[in-house]
Order: sequence, then C-alpha cells, then structure tokens
Amino acid sequence: KEKDLQKEFDAKIDAETKIEPRDWMPDAYRKNLIRQISQHAHSEVVGMLPEANWITRAPSLRRKVALLAKVQDEAGHGLYLYSATETLGAKREDTVDDLHRGKAKYSNIFNYPTVTWADIGAIGWLVDGAAIQNQVMLTRTSYGPYSRAMVRICKEESFHQRQGYEIMLTLANGTEAQKEMAQDALNRWWWPSLMMFGPSDKDSPHSQQSMAWKIKRQSNDELRQEFIDKTVPQAEYLGLTIPDPDLKWNEERESYDFGPINWDEFFNVIKGNGPMNKERLKARKDAKDNGAWVREAANAYAKKKRKREAG
Ligand code: 3HC
Repeated sequence: KEKDLQKEFDAKIDAETKIEPRDWMPDAYRKNLIRQISQHAHSEVVGMLPEANWITRAPSLRRKVALLAKVQDEAGHGLYLYSATETLGAKREDTVDDLHRGKAKYSNIFNYPTVTWADIGAIGWLVDGAAIQNQVMLTRTSYGPYSRAMVRICKEESFHQRQGYEIMLTLANGTEAQKEMAQDALNRWWWPSLMMFGPSDKDSPHSQQSMAWKIKRQSNDELRQEFIDKTVPQAEYLGLTIPDPDLKWNEERESYDFGPINWDEFFNVIKGNGPMNKERLKARKDAKDNGAWVREAANAYAKKKRKREAG
C-alpha cells in the first residue's frame, strides 16, 4: 500500500502535478516543507521590523505611504505562509512559539540595523530584489499551496523592489551627502543580501533532497549568480560602487566573477549572534504578550456569541 502511494507521489512530482494538502506525501517531504515555509513566514514577519523603524521618520508623506504599504504587504505575506504551513498540519501557536524560543530561523538579512533612510532604499532594491529572485523560482515549487502563495506574493514584491530602487536613484542624484548615504547603505547591505540565498551548494544540506522533490527548482549558487548579474548594471546606473574589488565581468561565462563571501559572518548571524537578533526576537515576543488581551477579548466575545446563537 505504502509502496503504491510512494509511486503515485513520485509520478506526480515527475509529471509536474502539484501536491495538494489532502494528497499522500512522504513524512520527510511534509517536514521539509513545514521547516522551509514556516521560516519563510518568520522572515516576512521579522522583516517588518527594520523597515518599521523608518515609518515615522520617512522624508515625505509619499515615502511614508509607500513604506507603510510595503510593511503591511510583508505582514500579509507572513500570514499567507503561516496558513500554508497549517495545510501541512502545523499548529500556528507552535510555529510562532518556535520562533520566540529561538528554535526556528528567519532570513539572516533582518538582523542588521537600519541606520539611515538610505537603508530603506537599499532594502527595497537589494533585499526584495534577492527575495524576488528566490520567490519567482518558488512559484514552480511542487507543493500547491506554497506555489500559489508565491504567485500572489511576487506581484507585490516587484512594487517593493521598485520603490526601493527609486529611493536609491533619488539619493544618488541628490546632494553629495545624499549620494554618500546611498553608497554607505550599499556597502553595508551588499554582502548580507548575497548571503540570503543560503550557503554555497556544496555546504547546503537540504538542497539535494529539495531539488529531488522539486521543492527547490534552482540551486542557492545559481540564484545568487543570477541576482548579481542583474544587480551590477543597476548599481552602475546609480553611479554607485559595489563593495567587492574582485567583481569582474567574465566574458567566457557571460557572468560576473565575485569575491569570497564571509560565511563565518553568515553562520554567526543565523546562530543568533547578529547585530540585532536579540532586539528582533524581543520585539516579536513583546508583540505577542502585549496583544494577548486582544485575543482573550476576541475569544470571550466569540464564546458569548456562540452561546447566544445556540439560544
Ligand atoms: N537566513 C537564515 N537561515 C538560512 C538562510 C538565510 N538566508 N539560508 C539558509 N539558511 C538555513 C536553512 O534554513 C538551513 O537551516 P535549517 O535546516 O535549520 O532550516 C541551513 O541554513 C542550510 O541551508 P540550506 O541551503 O540547506 O537550506 P534550504 O534548502 O532551506 O535553502 C533557502 C535555504 C534558499 C533560504 C530556502 O529555505 C528558501 O528558499 N526559503 C524560502 C525563501 C525565504 O525564506 N526567503 C526569505 C527572504 S526575506 C523575505 O521573503 C521578506 C521579503 O519580503 C523582504
């Protein structure tokens, strides 16, 4: 019986038929998806914090409105993805508690501080740019609910990327001080953005199995390279310098060669020792504690309503 089910599952994967919540799936496939999608959701929710830092200090009403809309989108992406984990049997409370207990990861990139307004431009341009690179690939992931969530999320991400790039363009074409701010932000966000794609393929424990199950459709290094090749011309258009002396166009490969990534920094940050890890987790735990009264009130109201309706 199990063997037939496994065969049917494999045939669906081969035929590019989406796996749906009620379909039989190997436990390991389910577990891998809960791991990845829950951490993706945590990334969206924690990702709101660095940007929220500038909502009250945006330089104009237009910038404030765009940033507010972006942060609200991230919240929606997070809820969308938590719902996708629930279709796999994960309990929302447990998933969120895993984050608060430091048991679950979220994207390395959100453990860096947003020290100037230019960071908001660099995040939209580079962080959302990298997220789009990865999420467009994930629209082809084999698990139905995750792939459909990605289609919806990618539409909103492109606005995030464009508003970030426009901020960088305004600064790069502004006063000397503004241009320096943009360059300083690029210097601080470039390498951590490359790390977002994950360890190099040879050091990626999940990649092989994720590729076999068509959860992952392109490798970490492949997506990183595509992102670099796309982003270098954008930096040139801004008149900014990418902080990598080894960056050089390779005619033969028709791609950019680039310098070594500081993997010690990456593993240190995702282990919890980044500049802002403690603040990020404290903000999430405070949000849960400070919001408890709202949940209690809503539950009490729902209970009374059910009792009234039951008559
Ligand atoms: N940050 C934190 N942890 C990371 C990481 C990163 N950038 N990249 C990899 N890791 C972790 C993995 O989670 C895994 O740890 P685990 O076993 O405890 O989960 C370990 O490092 C080994 O990495 P692998 O390459 O073997 O893991 P994956 O096959 O899962 O590949 C991934 C990593 C490419 C990030 C993949 O998990 C993925 O595609 N995730 C969904 C995309 C995602 O999470 N994007 C967040 C971007 S930010 C965002 O979306 C907000 C945007 O709106 C700004």
